[in-house]
Amino acid sequence: MGKILSIASGKGGVGKSVISSNLALLLTKRGKRVILTDFDTGGANQHVLFGLFHPTATMTDFLSHRLKTLEEVAQPVNGYHNLRLIPGTGDTLRTANLQHARKKRLIRHLKALDADVIVVDVGAGTHYHTLDFFLLADHHLAVATPDPTSVLDLYRFIKLAAIRKVLTSFAARDPVANALLDREFQSMSEVLEAVGETKEDGLPTAERALKDFQPSLILNRMTNGSRINTLQLQSLLKQYVGTDLTLLGNIPEHESISRSVQKYLPVVDLDPTSPASIALEHITDNIATRL
Ligand SMILES: Nc1ncnc2c1ncn2[C@@H]1O[C@H](COP(=O)(O)OP(=O)(O)OP(=O)(O)O)[C@@H](O)[C@H]1O
Ligand SMILES: [Mg+2]
Repeated sequence: MGKILSIASGKGGVGKSVISSNLALLLTKRGKRVILTDFDTGGANQHVLFGLFHPTATMTDFLSHRLKTLEEVAQPVNGYHNLRLIPGTGDTLRTANLQHARKKRLIRHLKALDADVIVVDVGAGTHYHTLDFFLLADHHLAVATPDPTSVLDLYRFIKLAAIRKVLTSFAARDPVANALLDREFQSMSEVLEAVGETKEDGLPTAERALKDFQPSLILNRMTNGSRINTLQLQSLLKQYVGTDLTLLGNIPEHESISRSVQKYLPVVDLDPTSPASIALEHITDNIATRL
């Protein structure tokens, strides 16, 4: 079974899809068989980043049962060795009437894919589906830019993901679920406190759920003046989660990325020596040691 790597953000447009496609390609260059999947609940576009305007199949074919397995949707891209893509659905996953049973089937098939690494671009925002796709992974990558709104949105995202993680470790009608649904929390210790107050023997379950949740951070579109906001982000997250989030790397703002998007090629292929590509290589090394 492959390792699942999920990539999300609070705010849209911060570079998740660009980062996922480049990381997926770089992991194949380190000998991994990789499947890149587009779970963006707000609008799938990975295939376009590869210039694949008419994918042979998309997630819709799987969701509508035209194809029996998700594996059948995975298709080669641009002749890249060991890289396959599962293009997202034309409808958004959010509106694709993704009832519980369908979502479970999707997750079951995702986990059964034949690859060493499965990179999941889960899209932006804090919708339940997005949080759940983010959480199902073995490794969680959260992307933000130094823009204060992106920093704040990432903080909210991590916070809700952590609460969701605790929540899903209890049954839907459990009193703990109610206790967590509508309250604002300032820190994870407050969340645990609320669980303990509601149900004393629920505490170990909640603690276990949180222990596995150690998202790492990628900062994108960094410029010289942007350090201050990211320090602020890291200290906010530390206050909330209780530990430092690992910073996997910074990617600079660089024209090679917009150029690569225009050319429908990953930047690490189009311009492997650009500062953005070098940063992506560095991040891939950090990820590879964790896989
Ligand atoms: N480091 C960078 N330097 C310059 N431009 C960048 C950089 N990173 C991303 N961009 C630009 O930002 C655009 C948006 O990136 P991308 O589509 O990956 O964001 P996203 O987070 O996936 O967005 P969405 O939330 O809509 O899915 C890209 O098309 C690219 O032009
Ligand atoms: Mg995207």
